[in-house]
Amino acid sequence: MKDTYILAFESSCDETSVSIIKNGHDEIATVVLTQMDIHALYGGVVPEIASRHHVESITIVIEECLNKAGMKIEDIDAIAVTYGPGLIGSLLVGMQAAKTLAYLYNKPLVPVHHIAGHIYANNLVQPMEFPLIALVVSGGHTDLVLMEEDYSFKRIGGTLDDAIGEAYDKVARVINVPYPGGPLIDKMAFEGEDTYKLPIPLDDDSYNFSFSGIKSAVINLVHNEEQRGNKIIKENLACSFQNRVTDILVKKTMKALKEYNVHNLIVAGGVAANKGLRSKLEKECKLENIKLCVPDIKYCTDNAAMIGAAGYYAYKLGRTADLNINSKANDSLK
Ligand code: KG4
Ligand code: ZN
Repeated sequence: MKDTYILAFESSCDETSVSIIKNGHDEIATVVLTQMDIHALYGGVVPEIASRHHVESITIVIEECLNKAGMKIEDIDAIAVTYGPGLIGSLLVGMQAAKTLAYLYNKPLVPVHHIAGHIYANNLVQPMEFPLIALVVSGGHTDLVLMEEDYSFKRIGGTLDDAIGEAYDKVARVINVPYPGGPLIDKMAFEGEDTYKLPIPLDDDSYNFSFSGIKSAVINLVHNEEQRGNKIIKENLACSFQNRVTDILVKKTMKALKEYNVHNLIVAGGVAANKGLRSKLEKECKLENIKLCVPDIKYCTDNAAMIGAAGYYAYKLGRTADLNINSKANDSLK
């Protein structure tokens, strides 16, 4: 069978990334240019600055990716791009680049939902086996998704308020840990002990999550201790927070696997890099005989390789778009 090469674009937040993926699973080349250091100065992503940096970087990143792969655009079968959700000014830069190349080189254009990309990052590790449950944990999402076949997404639950990554970043901010706080809180959690009394996030029979209560509890606790002149032991707070949120994520995920009689679990999104979450899931999945797949750390946070992997399956299913397609700041996974 002839190989299919996808040229993929991702620019939904603060990473400008271009990748070439063969047959939905072989990474030929990926370039990721992160703006993290720039936004760290402001304590979070500044949308206007992000889109300006995408504009400055995109052509350089495209050229570098093609050079790395030793390929020309003529060798590509289709062009995939994150159409949403994300920061609109950032999304538009990737979309415009993808549309321009699709028009100039007469290639099919394949729009990819950002979360479909995060899910398909797992296909770069090993072929995804269906049915599966995907635990999606990122800066903007916390969802449990049932997939019975390629590119079929059934959301069975998700956060009612803050996304898990967002909660990590806000907790980090209140204890003066620099943006993005998630990875540092994760590291600190292993250096501390679970000593702080924090509420258990929404522990009911549903597959929904709620992290705003525990986030507010951390903020209040820090402020109260400061007013009393007491010192916060940051590592212990990180450990207590991480335990509470990962326990509930793991509990509801394992319940979903049981109820839907599914034996494959994949984890997707930036928080899939979390060591506490990974080790708890590994332990539970071993006990319950569930096949667990987590992406390599470099594929957990935003990158275009995952968009190329998802884009391949979307392309095979004929999910192409014409040049009138627009980026969308919000859109559900379907
Ligand atoms: O998927 P992603 O790169 O961007 C979105 O699509 O949102 O996820 C970024 C989020 C940030 O909130 C970051 O703090 C969090 O993922 N994150 C982590 C870890 N690594 C990244 N959160 C907890 N533990 C980590 N190790
Ligand atoms: Zn993401």
